[in-house]
Amino acid sequence: MLTLILAESSLETIPPKIGRYGLTKTPSKKGEEKNKTILDISLHSRIVQNLPNREKRGRPDIIHLSLLAALGTPLNKYGFLQIFVHTIQDMVIRIASETRLPKNYNRFIGLMEQLYDLGKVPPEGPPLLTLEKMTLETLIKNLKPSETLLFTEKGTLLKLKPVMNECAKQENPLIIIGGFPHGDFSPETLKLSDKKISISPETLDTWIVVSRALYCYEEAVLDKNLNTK
Ligand SMILES: C[S@@+](CC[C@H](N)C(=O)[O-])C[C@H]1O[C@@H](n2cnc3c(N)ncnc32)[C@H](O)[C@@H]1O
Repeated sequence: MLTLILAESSLETIPPKIGRYGLTKTPSKKGEEKNKTILDISLHSRIVQNLPNREKRGRPDIIHLSLLAALGTPLNKYGFLQIFVHTIQDMVIRIASETRLPKNYNRFIGLMEQLYDLGKVPPEGPPLLTLEKMTLETLIKNLKPSETLLFTEKGTLLKLKPVMNECAKQENPLIIIGGFPHGDFSPETLKLSDKKISISPETLDTWIVVSRALYCYEEAVLDKNLNTK
């Protein structure tokens, strides 16, 4: 089974310090104030401007599009894929393969706000989405991948198809793709991979890299497992 991690993803609630200065806040159950509004640069550009790593913040649409692209693949539908979102604030979202995300962006944001508020979605019964505080390093240690490939335009330029063919020979490979709009992976993230791979001289959007990598892996794995031609 292939694991996909969208790493350092641009998905977070409005940081608390900024919340104190008058933006939307909701009281938590313990009576403390807790902001559960998802940061979106198109709505909160002045907040994003004052944040560290601002080029990587406030783009939850990247996660929405990338998750739709990954969850909709035959690879996922046949149970050959598991997906995690690691965020820039070291939160990890596990996404069950049967999850059907809203196609509408505003409804996706509503779902993410519910997830940040309650820690799981749906609130009752077996969760489809769970949220917990965890570093990328801990997540990878828990997953124990046989090989970790990190996709970056600064990696070794290779043809994607042979890369994913080799990946498909591994028992439990992991691919890491950045869930942020601009800038680079942190040095801590770069240290966690076995290989750094570039698939184009151009910088591509996250969901394009996700779609292409999953398609090539799917071609290699499903042909073998489903006896298709
Ligand atoms: C929009 S890019 C990240 C920002 C990019 N470094 C920039 O400054 O514009 C999103 C992610 O897609 C992947 N990616 C983009 N272009 C790629 C390429 N040519 N080869 C491999 N991965 C790529 C990387 O994982 C990257 O973190």
